[in-house]
Amino acid sequence: MPSTTTSPDPNLDSVLRENRVFPPPAEFAAKARIKSLTEYEERYRKSVADPENFWAEAARELHWFEPWEKVLDWNLPWAKWFVGGKINLSYNCVDRHALGDKRDKVAILWEGEPGEVRKLTFGDLHAEVQRFANVLKGLGIKKGDRIAVYMGMTPELAIAILACARIGAVHSVIFGGFAAHAIVDRVNDAECVAILTQDTSYRRGCEVKLKATVDEALLQCPTVKDVVVYKRSGLPVNMKAGRDQWWHELMAKAEPECPAEALDSEDPLYILYTSGTTGKPKGLVHTTGGYSVQTYLTSKYIFDLQADDVYWCSADIGWVTGHSYVVYGILQNGVTTLMYEGAPNFPEMDRFWRVIDAHKVTIFYTAPTAIRAFIKWGDHFPEKHKLDSLRLLGTVGEPINPEAWMWYRDKIGKGRCPIVDTWWQTETGAIMIAPVPGAVPTKPGSATRPFFGIVPEVVTKEGTPVPAGHGGLLVIRQPWPSMARTIFKDPDRYRSSYWSEIPGSYFTGDGARIDEDGCFWLMGRVDDVLNVSGHRLGTMEVESALVAHPKVAEAAVVGRPDDLKGQAIAAFVTLESEYQPSKELKDELRAWVAKEIGALARPDDIRFTEQLPKTRSGKIMRRLLRELATNGEIKGDTTTLEDFNVIAKLREQDE
Ligand code: WTA
Repeated sequence: MPSTTTSPDPNLDSVLRENRVFPPPAEFAAKARIKSLTEYEERYRKSVADPENFWAEAARELHWFEPWEKVLDWNLPWAKWFVGGKINLSYNCVDRHALGDKRDKVAILWEGEPGEVRKLTFGDLHAEVQRFANVLKGLGIKKGDRIAVYMGMTPELAIAILACARIGAVHSVIFGGFAAHAIVDRVNDAECVAILTQDTSYRRGCEVKLKATVDEALLQCPTVKDVVVYKRSGLPVNMKAGRDQWWHELMAKAEPECPAEALDSEDPLYILYTSGTTGKPKGLVHTTGGYSVQTYLTSKYIFDLQADDVYWCSADIGWVTGHSYVVYGILQNGVTTLMYEGAPNFPEMDRFWRVIDAHKVTIFYTAPTAIRAFIKWGDHFPEKHKLDSLRLLGTVGEPINPEAWMWYRDKIGKGRCPIVDTWWQTETGAIMIAPVPGAVPTKPGSATRPFFGIVPEVVTKEGTPVPAGHGGLLVIRQPWPSMARTIFKDPDRYRSSYWSEIPGSYFTGDGARIDEDGCFWLMGRVDDVLNVSGHRLGTMEVESALVAHPKVAEAAVVGRPDDLKGQAIAAFVTLESEYQPSKELKDELRAWVAKEIGALARPDDIRFTEQLPKTRSGKIMRRLLRELATNGEIKGDTTTLEDFNVIAKLREQDE
């Protein structure tokens, strides 16, 4: 059982005191797809009374090569959706619009960090995706093969995954901020046969050397036969003969037409690795049909997509948010999706607001951690811009503190735009809890009500529902179409991580409470998973990286609340006896973790200790470490501690 103690979080107090309610602005509701709370509630009631019928109706809005025979085959925890149906997500994102009335409509609107702009219509995208699908085929890539994608935010990244989806190759996108070691783990676990990358990417005016990192990783990846390199900057890179080829050269030789394959609804679409409570990231497997349907439908209703919207989600495609809500959900709806390559503070802290005004963005979806950074940088940055094209705002990735929510509403949305706080996970594939914006009143800090067809509940460790207003564990009671089907090559771990804690239910790993209005308030993780700037990280992953350093004997990592990042990483380290603590060694260890995993995992604090506090059975007492990292002192019960001295010593370091 995971420990249910979350770190004492100052944000929690303000959430518990929060009672403001904002009904949908009348002007917004008048034009929205769903216009009133009654309409939402009526639809919700019907959707959960007969979920199969509800999802089947939604699925009929997409193109199927062959209809399904059965909507759901559910043998807990194994789900199959739209059994026997044949579908292709690349077709639904691209062909349907290119062959219909949207051929000349902009599908991808891209802005590079240095300032270039590219616009790809659905017609252009159709041509590019088909050609690149032929490139993949030309390399001998077939349905079911796993392809790693380690690229920056360029249209080619979207083209790459759409081309994989077109031929049934399973993409495994690896966030461009991960280090070589993290690539090795992911590529080897999935036994990828090829990796798609680019020379460099731009971030905050610097070049991110993606190809060089791939070169380093590939020294340890025996399954990779081919590397395709997209030329983004033209900076020199090594090209290994017989293995590495240029994207543009292969494209120039490829045939232009590649019909989308009629894939089985349950054919795997992608693998995406995410952190769990052990050191090894989990390769979650998403399949085609159900994922298509739920990303399509949630995009349509939660972002209230309309034909003339310019939608911008600032997430990187390396995370699930980018998969579902930069590419798949939005393009299925035939709406323009904006991709921005670089950092929010380059060349100035107002880059995002500049992008919004320049491209008349109507819907903007970002993370609370970004909002907190904007607040810190100062109101004069957004104030320099009109922001009058915006009509809807969204957040995702971590609980949002009411203060940040209010700032977002006032300074960016000018009180005119509803905010959709969307709760979901890599595992859920699509949004699960969020206000339908024309219908559901919003509350600062609450993700509000479940999406149609979704039955979340807050329960005790024993699985009993808790009364309104009380905290508990968030579970999902019924299967949903975009749920991950398994963990790649590890079905037992899938069952034990998600379906064993609370029998009969999906265990999210999050704490929550429901208020009197049926609104959900998310309280953060209840397990050893951290959420650092909206990025999921396992404490064990960081610990494994630390102990891999030759001077480290043992390490324990915990999260502590941080105003900007949500959680910061605090590491407690015992050194091998021949080494002495020093400031230099702290810096060395921080740099080491960044090199092993990526900069996102670099510990904020490192404290050296002679021993870690452990229970008599040898378990590290994380609760104590969390308290110590947060408050610098220990209040809780320490009677099971093996060595009280340890705590005293850790404390001394603060003084
Ligand atoms: C957290 C990101 C509160 C939560 C889509 C979840 C949130 C984890 C919210 C999943 C939200 C995500 N409010 N917490 N609106 N959205 N989370 O897999 O702890 O990267 O379990 O998916 O982020 O992170 P993941």
